Amino acid sequence: MTEFVDYEKFKAKKGLEGIIAGESAVSKVFPDINALVYRGYPVQDLAENCSFEEVAYLIWHGELPNKAQLKEFEAQEREYRPLSKDLIEVIKKFPKGAHPMDYIRTGVSFLGMEDKRIWETDTKTNLDKSMKVFAAAPTIVAAAYRHQKGLEIIAPKKELNYCENFFHMCFGKVPPKEVVKAFDVSMTLYAEHGFNASTFTGRVITSTMSDLYSAVTGAIGSLKGPLHGGANEQVMHVLQEVGEPEKAREWMLNAIKTKRKVMGFGHRVYKRGDSRVPTMKKYAAGLGKFKGEEKWQQISDILERTMIDEKNIHPNLDFPSGPAYYLMGFDIDMFTPIFVMSRITGWTAHIIEQANDNRIFRPLSDYTGKLERHVSPIEKR
Ligand code: COA
Repeated sequence: MTEFVDYEKFKAKKGLEGIIAGESAVSKVFPDINALVYRGYPVQDLAENCSFEEVAYLIWHGELPNKAQLKEFEAQEREYRPLSKDLIEVIKKFPKGAHPMDYIRTGVSFLGMEDKRIWETDTKTNLDKSMKVFAAAPTIVAAAYRHQKGLEIIAPKKELNYCENFFHMCFGKVPPKEVVKAFDVSMTLYAEHGFNASTFTGRVITSTMSDLYSAVTGAIGSLKGPLHGGANEQVMHVLQEVGEPEKAREWMLNAIKTKRKVMGFGHRVYKRGDSRVPTMKKYAAGLGKFKGEEKWQQISDILERTMIDEKNIHPNLDFPSGPAYYLMGFDIDMFTPIFVMSRITGWTAHIIEQANDNRIFRPLSDYTGKLERHVSPIEKR
């Protein structure tokens, strides 16, 4: 006999706070000890000691690659970087002035239309599709960047690694190794973070047995918002608004007084600080020294100290990564598309996990509308 559940006794949890919405073996956040592990490895350890390509391999396959596996992985990534002539033509028609997040969202959607295996969701095909999106996303982002500026699009170069090649496609040259390492570290730190909003979006789309490209496209739309990935751009706007270290404390006190939400601070899961911040902060500070432009770090330090002292709210990864990308020479609206390039690894690992052990997501809502009533004839309304 069917048992009926008394749903009336459940109340909605705003923002699904504290709700466990599924199982995953990809990563885990330990909020009490400010730790984040990918497949068991602490993220700081990976950022310092592995390339982003090794981390991508780990996220997808569950183990770090050996030399031969990495060589094969890198060869495939380099093979999949170029875009079709059609996609390049489409990018050239994108409206100038549109946000680059909309460029990459449409670009990934287009990749899906070009893939004849669109409905195949077995792990082997999904991993291959993941590699396509992973390798082609930087080419799309860089092409969009150059198109926005009215510059010639630069083709990828097979001799360069993932991070070097991205700089080459954006700026036509590869910066010193200190800059490339800071970028590589940021890519590892951004790669994966459990059931955050965009990953959850990707899993929900996958749960309908839709395709991987649709799930990544939806995840990009979710990441765009300033409460999620878009925060790294807003952080740099804040630092520019503050302008000088001497104004930073006053600015933050005023923001707190006027109950302004300061982007780059706070987190749903971490309450005692984001585990990724110290590593990114170290590289952002290093970039400031290297470039002889240390004021962003000085402003950041004062904002952070004041916010912690006054409200005990800690910075999240977007706080140091925003100024780091700025110091690397990227326009502010490129910061979130760069985040996309990294998070594609985590999203696709979750999409594959969801596809392999699927049940459609179908939660309930707590009805707050009118109680039952009856239609009266139109002339009496
Ligand atoms: N600036 C000022 N106050 C903040 C804050 C911030 N960035 N983040 C949280 N708070 C305050 C809230 O005002 C709230 O205070 P109250 O209890 O007095 O109302 C309290 O801290 C709890 O915040 P809340 O918004 O309920 O947390 P959440 O879990 O729903 O949201 C974030 C988490 C990340 C969306 C939120 O902290 C935020 O908007 N941060 C800024 C955007 C950002 O940096 N996003 C990137 C996340 S990695």
